[in-house]
Amino acid sequence: MRVIVLGGTWFVGRAIAHALVAAGHIPLLVHRGRDEPAGLPDVEHLHHERETWPDRRADFASFGADAVIDVSAGNATGARAALMALPPGVRLIALSSVDVYRAYEGMLNHRQTDAVPLTEDSPLRTARYVDGPHWENLELEELYLTAGATILRLGAVYGEHDYQHRFEPVLRRIRAGRPRVPVGTGSFLFSRVYVGDVAQAVLAVLASERGGGECFNIVEAQTAPMRLFYEQVIAAAGADLELVRVSDDRLPADLRSVGAVDQHLLASAQKAREVLGWRDSDRETAMRRSVRWHLNNPPLEWSDDFSQDDAALRAG
Ligand SMILES: NC(=O)c1ccc[n+]([C@@H]2O[C@H](COP(=O)([O-])OP(=O)(O)OC[C@H]3O[C@@H](n4cnc5c(N)ncnc54)[C@H](OP(=O)(O)O)[C@@H]3O)[C@@H](O)[C@H]2O)c1
Repeated sequence: MRVIVLGGTWFVGRAIAHALVAAGHIPLLVHRGRDEPAGLPDVEHLHHERETWPDRRADFASFGADAVIDVSAGNATGARAALMALPPGVRLIALSSVDVYRAYEGMLNHRQTDAVPLTEDSPLRTARYVDGPHWENLELEELYLTAGATILRLGAVYGEHDYQHRFEPVLRRIRAGRPRVPVGTGSFLFSRVYVGDVAQAVLAVLASERGGGECFNIVEAQTAPMRLFYEQVIAAAGADLELVRVSDDRLPADLRSVGAVDQHLLASAQKAREVLGWRDSDRETAMRRSVRWHLNNPPLEWSDDFSQDDAALRAG
């Protein structure tokens, strides 16, 4: 298939581009071209700012796409620009997040609002733009669903090239040779997914006979609570870092998620397993690969100030 990837060069889109090539598809990566990271697959690029896409319809049409994956719409404005530019009749896939569920709003507001696991029918948020002025997955879902797209609602994505550095609270302490890390209640359940498995979910949609206009949660089948997750990161790094239980209110700022959280964000991917035949891959292998990449590629800037750790460990 000839597949337009809207985005495709940073993290999730990059993994999708690699998976498309490995599966024999022909991708076109559409982005601004601010950065052309090393190691991208050798494929065609189209460099335009998203807001100009409606004026570039001819460029989009000339690729002769069978399918389009919007990795980076962000909100209604972004989705609208894409939908105005794309040729009619192509299969549409758009990435969203489990942040569309009301449970996410509950978590942010320290309230318990929903039973888990969250399914595609769980209540959605009523508040909008809860993560700032640029991101609103509810908006892009509304536009893309109306256009007949398949929506993939992702859990917290981890893996190679993750610019959010989800393992960093643990890895910076390992890099600094810290012997002990303070942790709190550690019971928070937040569904995760390996970036390579997100790419496989996109391939599963492309291979499916199912029409669009529906959503799928794409999350791992089993979710370690936050404290156990940290232990898994430590084990995958082959490090010796002792977790020491302290009072939640003494946790350093970057370790708050290992304190008590009122609303879990545990989602179910049963529908994707049943309808798309999608499965998440072996967790230990995914963790090892991801942690190794992050150990080899630390953030350019990171703090080696552990005074909050020392205070929490002293106070208990
Ligand atoms: N990370 C998570 O935990 C998580 C969780 C849930 C859902 N998601 C979803 O994953 C997606 C994000 O993945 P990603 O950032 O890793 O995707 P990506 O496709 O790998 O990277 C973003 C792409 O967008 C391009 N871009 C950014 N601003 C642009 C603009 N104004 N005009 C044109 N192109 C632009 C960037 O290239 P240039 O800079 O060259 O333009 C880059 O190619 C989102 O849909 C998000 O909702 C992520």
